[in-house]
Amino acid sequence: MKRVIVVNGPNLNLLGSRQRDVYGLGTLAELEDMVIGWGSAKGIEVETFQSNHEGELIDTLHNARTEVDGIVLNGGALTHYSYALHDAIAALDVPTVEVHLSNIHAREPWRRLSVTAPACVYQIFGRGLRGYRDALSHLVWRHAHPPETVRYGDEDDQIADLRLPDGNGPFPVAVLFHGGFWRDVWTRDLMDGLAVDLAGRGWATWNVEYRRVGAGGGWPVTLEDVAAAVDHLEIVATRHPIDLRRVVTIGHSAGGHLALWSAARTSLSPEAPGSVPQVAPLAAVGLAPVADLASCHGAWVGDGAVEGFLGRSPADGADRYAGADPAALLPLGVRQLIVHGSADDVVPIALSEAYVGKAADAGDAVVFTELSGVDHHELIDPADAAWAAARNDLEDLV
Ligand code: DQA
Repeated sequence: MKRVIVVNGPNLNLLGSRQRDVYGLGTLAELEDMVIGWGSAKGIEVETFQSNHEGELIDTLHNARTEVDGIVLNGGALTHYSYALHDAIAALDVPTVEVHLSNIHAREPWRRLSVTAPACVYQIFGRGLRGYRDALSHLVWRHAHPPETVRYGDEDDQIADLRLPDGNGPFPVAVLFHGGFWRDVWTRDLMDGLAVDLAGRGWATWNVEYRRVGAGGGWPVTLEDVAAAVDHLEIVATRHPIDLRRVVTIGHSAGGHLALWSAARTSLSPEAPGSVPQVAPLAAVGLAPVADLASCHGAWVGDGAVEGFLGRSPADGADRYAGADPAALLPLGVRQLIVHGSADDVVPIALSEAYVGKAADAGDAVVFTELSGVDHHELIDPADAAWAAARNDLEDLV
């Protein structure tokens, strides 16, 4: 990946003065400087373009066709109705990531529809300026190891990215769950780096999207999706040489919760969502996980994220916590690896220490790796020593 063009559409020239509560304080010039800097840190030359005119945007995309390896596009309001822009993207054969500064799914109903998204390889929304950086990263990881995006259900978010290593297999499978407190703006691109890294080391990776709070998810839908995604590996195994006896679930933050929960479905009562697993993971890895939902609720982790996810407090929703909280399901009956950084200010490490104690007392085989000075996000940066440490422990699990 050498060259990327970042294209902004109508009214984005007014960033910094336009609806600052929605779009932030940064100007277009600042945004463009930032993306150029983020690109050069990744060895990519970034060109930028903005226009208020549909035809100019289309001409620019056409001209970029032979010049760039990727496109980051914020079409502004054209996103919601320009079939011409859709067709231009579709005509190019250059991977295009759609970006929106604001959460288009949480605003007026007409903004929820993107007519351009079907022509794009990915959509990022509601992350402010950071969304552009994440879009560049996504293009880089996609270029390094293109995934096969597989549908495990009919809903838009019931998809997962499959990557296979070189060789004949059968390969152990790393099922990846991204974090983001189960909220809609955070999606599976967060785990792209780990997916590419693991696929380069002999793992088949299955990077799961699931419906989230604000995007049709929450209790029990998110859990049902996660269960269906793991079970879908049975179908994947009919087409690819993956080893269903060596499946490990790996999740970061709230995705750590999903990794622990999805490996523990044999301990669910029959009426709980996701009971009766078809694929039984061998082990679960929580990277700075939200492992104990009731305790995390008590500590108000993620500004009420657990209540947002389950729709209830532990006092009002005992049945939901009984079905969703790994700490309530102990012993999980699978090997667990919990990795947490001591400098984590998003999910405090003390919560993992307490969870590990409970899991060991309940009879589970659980390894706890405490990484001194490591923060919440370093654990999912494949270039970081923290991930290298976690990966070493992971390799002992299969
Ligand atoms: C936008 C969202 C669009 O709905 C809006 O028309 C824009 C900006 C965003 O970045 O959030 O102009 O694309």
